[in-house]
Amino acid sequence: MRARWAVLGMVPFAVLLCFAFLVRPPPVPAAPPPELSVLVGVLTRPEKYASRHLLRLVYGTQPAAPLAQVDVRFVLCRLATDEQRLLVALEILRFGDVIVLNCTENMNSGKTHTFFSSLPGILPRRYDYVMKADDDAFIRVAPLAAALRPLSRHDLYFGYGIPCAGEDPYAGYMSGMGYALSWDLVEWIAASDIPVAELRGPEDKLVGRWLDRGKKAAHRHTAKRAMYDYPGVNGRCSHELLPETVAVHRLKTPERWTTVLRFFNATAALPPSKLYRFD
Ligand SMILES: *[C@@H]1O[C@H](CO)[C@@H](O)[C@H](O)[C@H]1NC(C)=O
Ligand SMILES: *[C@@H]1O[C@H](CO)[C@@H](O)[C@H](O)[C@H]1NC(C)=O
Repeated sequence: MRARWAVLGMVPFAVLLCFAFLVRPPPVPAAPPPELSVLVGVLTRPEKYASRHLLRLVYGTQPAAPLAQVDVRFVLCRLATDEQRLLVALEILRFGDVIVLNCTENMNSGKTHTFFSSLPGILPRRYDYVMKADDDAFIRVAPLAAALRPLSRHDLYFGYGIPCAGEDPYAGYMSGMGYALSWDLVEWIAASDIPVAELRGPEDKLVGRWLDRGKKAAHRHTAKRAMYDYPGVNGRCSHELLPETVAVHRLKTPERWTTVLRFFNATAALPPSKLYRFD
């Protein structure tokens, strides 16, 4: 008897459930999955807190790249002091955008190799491309994704070809301001004996040499005009700021950052408010 009552008691509940099902709002169409993904690793040093603050502002306020996932990470070698261990841990808690590699911060001591070769083993996912970027470069993520979209997802080496005056992406190597490798090349760097045989020297030039020695990067693309050094600071590698920019390099002073961010209207989205003034 008691069981029957219990069953009857469930009837209104079931009716309600059916009703809820019927009046459910139509499903929101899911956002289309990104067509391509890029990890941008900004190689920097633990103690450059102010630089990371600026770069987080710069990347955090840029318009997102349509149909692309671009993740920016700050890449450090091992931390050297208790202060760094504390402050970088706090940065990771707050921003979650730091990678600390097992290497030491010396010029030309293999950080770039450690960066690329560690990624397949430490990242929670793969990306179509991994870009290495300098911390004095301004990279515009939507034009970057647009530049990569029509290119090969495989065996690709993309960047700004050195020498500056040349147009042939096979002639030299890609400038350290920022260059991207397709994921298969990142895996190749991690697995091949060729890079480990040559780790000392100008790191970005070495990447080009490894790829040449390994007969890799059949696809190479140099984004001349869209990538360049800040106007007037580096001969033929420099030219005036252009709207179609992917990257501007050698932003070594606050004045240069200000000029560049003004040119690209970085603050245009700021709504007027009684809470602040800029006059
Ligand atoms: C870190 O690098 C050092 C020097 O190359 C090596 O001896 C050590 O085993 C590495 N540690 C880890 C956890 O991989
Ligand atoms: C910045 O904004 C100005 C004024 O709206 C516009 O003329 C200019 O083209 C913009 N610059 C860029 C690089 O988009």
